[in-house]
Amino acid sequence: MFGNKNKEVNKTRAWKRLEDHCKNMRKVEMREMFEQDPSRAERYCINLEHMMLDYSKNRINDRTIRYLLDLAEERNLKGMIEAMFRGDKINTTEHRPVLHVALRNRSNKPIYVDGKNVMPEINEVLAKMRRFSEAVRLGEFRGATGKKLTNIVNIGIGGSDLGPKMACEALKKYWAKDINCYFISNIDGTACCEVLNKVDPETTLFIVASKTFTTIETLTNAKTCRKWLVDALGEHAVCKHFVAVSTNLKEVEKFGINPENMFEFWDFVGGRYSMWSAIGLIIAIAVGMDNFDKMLDGAHAMDMHFKDTDFARNIPVIMGMLGVWYNNFFNLRNVAVVPYDQYLQFLPAYLQQLDMESNGKQVNNFNKYVKYSTAPVLFGGPGTDVQHSFFQLIHQGSSVVPIDFIIPAISHNEIGDHHEILVANVLAQGEALMRGKTVIEAAAELRKAGKAEEEVKRVKRFKSFTGNRPSNTFVFKKIDPYTLGMLIAAYEHKVFVEGIIWNINSFDQMGVELGKQMALSILPELQGNASSVSHDSSTEHLIATIKRLRK
Ligand code: F6P
Repeated sequence: MFGNKNKEVNKTRAWKRLEDHCKNMRKVEMREMFEQDPSRAERYCINLEHMMLDYSKNRINDRTIRYLLDLAEERNLKGMIEAMFRGDKINTTEHRPVLHVALRNRSNKPIYVDGKNVMPEINEVLAKMRRFSEAVRLGEFRGATGKKLTNIVNIGIGGSDLGPKMACEALKKYWAKDINCYFISNIDGTACCEVLNKVDPETTLFIVASKTFTTIETLTNAKTCRKWLVDALGEHAVCKHFVAVSTNLKEVEKFGINPENMFEFWDFVGGRYSMWSAIGLIIAIAVGMDNFDKMLDGAHAMDMHFKDTDFARNIPVIMGMLGVWYNNFFNLRNVAVVPYDQYLQFLPAYLQQLDMESNGKQVNNFNKYVKYSTAPVLFGGPGTDVQHSFFQLIHQGSSVVPIDFIIPAISHNEIGDHHEILVANVLAQGEALMRGKTVIEAAAELRKAGKAEEEVKRVKRFKSFTGNRPSNTFVFKKIDPYTLGMLIAAYEHKVFVEGIIWNINSFDQMGVELGKQMALSILPELQGNASSVSHDSSTEHLIATIKRLRK
């Protein structure tokens, strides 16, 4: 088993010391730490190329960082990072290496899996992606009736949808002018219909993206789209309008897609880590392969930073250890990610899968139930929108939610003073959360506004803010392919760091299986067949009610 020692992490000296230290830090006010130390912002920030992570608005001091990094050392984080990059089988439950880093290994140095260098195959698929995406963009690969393919529909779910969808949206400004991207993921027929209503069969290319090629949502949606196309253009059109991205050649052929139109990837890449592979084909078609390569370059730069930089100056390590600090020592079970960039609107949904599917586990690598909390609940949405939805709770709610703010210095759409207002808002949120407003300050403000003493007494508490609420702020120049690559890789590695500390396998997802299995047993009953399985009375009742309503 991996992990350096046979000791449960919460029994280690480093953990115990953090528990003691946390008791002191709970009493410390961030606003006082800022007042006492004018260099705090400078000390708790990391610059990497044009990106900066400001983590000064956290309930930490130098000792906290030291103790957290001792815990990282105790858990052999360095060794585990090396093991991942080396291609060791750190996905222990599935006996697989974890090599999304190989997909963007721009150094092209060999990485061996079972004695075989995987780089030539990866490079081959990247070259095939380049050829195909360019052919589509230039109109050399055309539809069955000779028209240019300008509507690209990705059919996939989970990791085969969220990454490409998030990245396509993030890089919308880089799309070829005549290309439109669509995503069908949900089994809900509405998802399919809404897209098919918008596109024309003659100009539509479907990418069926499924690592396993067995996922019921994707295959059902793909069959519906195939029928729609065949009804309009005939069976012969399928090879001109369908391509697949998968690890499962047999199933792809069975579905009727020409193996030549299949883009391969490998089981050493987890679904939620796969946008760097051919799963990103729609990104490459939309923004061009040169831009896709830049995204890989950015991710590689973050990989090298993660692998080679001292932990005290290491963005993903600091992010991950802060995650552990709040989750396990302050007992905060939620985190939020709020990008102040409309193009990053799908980032929280993407990170939800990355974080919660990776670390939402409770059996550790010693095959024991953990006695500490693992992945928090991650939620978020674009600022300033979410300031008008869940931010009331973030500021005054009874639970504290650490937040990551993300803000580009330059917008792709610099109109009027929109961007300055946006920036002012994100900075104000971080400051307000950190500073808060005491009851005394609230009362003084009310008096200054001319309120009667009785009114001041009545509302001063409602108008106060406890503050001392943590946030990180990511700042960079602009959302471009390279920066996006850096940012996503930083979050991937943050999740890795947390998984190592918690001694769990971040790379399987067995928790999604049970619901899938049970759906398969309920389906025949909804279709009118006799029940082969007995359910609880609530489920029986729901089945009966829905059947009655569908009559
Ligand atoms: O939700 C479970 C899961 O296996 C994810 O990990 C994966 O991203 C998704 O389903 C889709 O799987 P596939 O790419 O095999 O269709």
